[in-house]
Amino acid sequence: MNRVLVLTGGGDCPGLNAVIRAIVKRASQEKDWEVIGSIQAFDGVLSEPMKIVELDNKAVSGIHFRGGTILETTNKGGPFAWPYQNNDGSWSTVDRSDEMIRKLQYMGVNAVINIGGDGSQRISQALFEKGLNVIGVPKTIDNDLAATDSTFGFQTAVQIATEAVDKLVTTAASHNRVFLLEVMGRDAGWIALNSAVAGGAEICLLPEFPYEVSKIVEHLDHRFRKGRGFANIVVAEGARPKGGSQVSEKASEFAYENIRLGGIANQVMHEIAQAGFMGDMRTTVLGHLQRGGIPSAYDRVLATQFGVKAMELVLEKKFGHMVSYRHPYITSVTLEDAVSKSNLVTWDTALMKTARGIGISFGV
Ligand code: F6P
Repeated sequence: MNRVLVLTGGGDCPGLNAVIRAIVKRASQEKDWEVIGSIQAFDGVLSEPMKIVELDNKAVSGIHFRGGTILETTNKGGPFAWPYQNNDGSWSTVDRSDEMIRKLQYMGVNAVINIGGDGSQRISQALFEKGLNVIGVPKTIDNDLAATDSTFGFQTAVQIATEAVDKLVTTAASHNRVFLLEVMGRDAGWIALNSAVAGGAEICLLPEFPYEVSKIVEHLDHRFRKGRGFANIVVAEGARPKGGSQVSEKASEFAYENIRLGGIANQVMHEIAQAGFMGDMRTTVLGHLQRGGIPSAYDRVLATQFGVKAMELVLEKKFGHMVSYRHPYITSVTLEDAVSKSNLVTWDTALMKTARGIGISFGV
């Protein structure tokens, strides 16, 4: 019997369960393949006792519309940087990748499907270089991977952010206020850009285009002079002022890879007030509401396509590849290519042209 190990790594994302289900359903059509899952990314294999679950049709029945991941996830540590505590209480990391590969051999694992974002796929590539049979499945609500046209979870996040803009528009109009909505988007502003266009925001601040407060105030003044006494601003969490830096909290947990971003909307609100704008303003931080809950139909379909393709890549022994969507095909790219380039918003991106065409200001 052949065995494929599935795991989910990095931040969770609507659609992960639909991928897991599709892998299992596709594998069950083969007589000689079974699927097992590692709990909390590779930690399930590395921890003692191991945390491994059997994934058969019964285990994945009806999970396609459930948010989160039945395999749990983590965005800390991993086989190349396993955290351990020293006698003095301080923390260090150790590379346990060789040990993990040996463990997988001992477990009779023939292939691994790693569902995760850029950080997880870097781990996939490094393990592949060490001889492990790995297939990657891209996952990110930020849609910041260049190797695929889109990733599941992104459309759901855009829908949630747009619903938030819609709600804020009505209260902004009622109170003659300016609302600043902070959405996710660390390096890539796709969620902010899409929800600003869909929700009809007046201003949108993206990580890719450092803003000037004077330009924001100019746009607000112009709008208020025209008699429109309210405005909505969508701010990506990774936005920053020209010459300034991103706003973050210090990460408190050891081996936490990403700095925790947050607070830029509040900072922009104060900068606007300091620049002399007199209007009443409020901020809303949408946060992890964008990552939880039921995936949209689009994301469930894409996730299912990705899961089936991942299992087919395993059957074809196309290891070292990541599933990719290149309209209209579900195809694959090498992991090496997949992790080498990010998908960022550029000034000439089609949707940027549309946004500028309807008069959205980017504070530049
Ligand atoms: O990478 C996806 C993302 O949603 C980022 O936009 C955000 O900065 C990050 O995850 C937050 O993740 P967590 O709070 O789980 O570390």
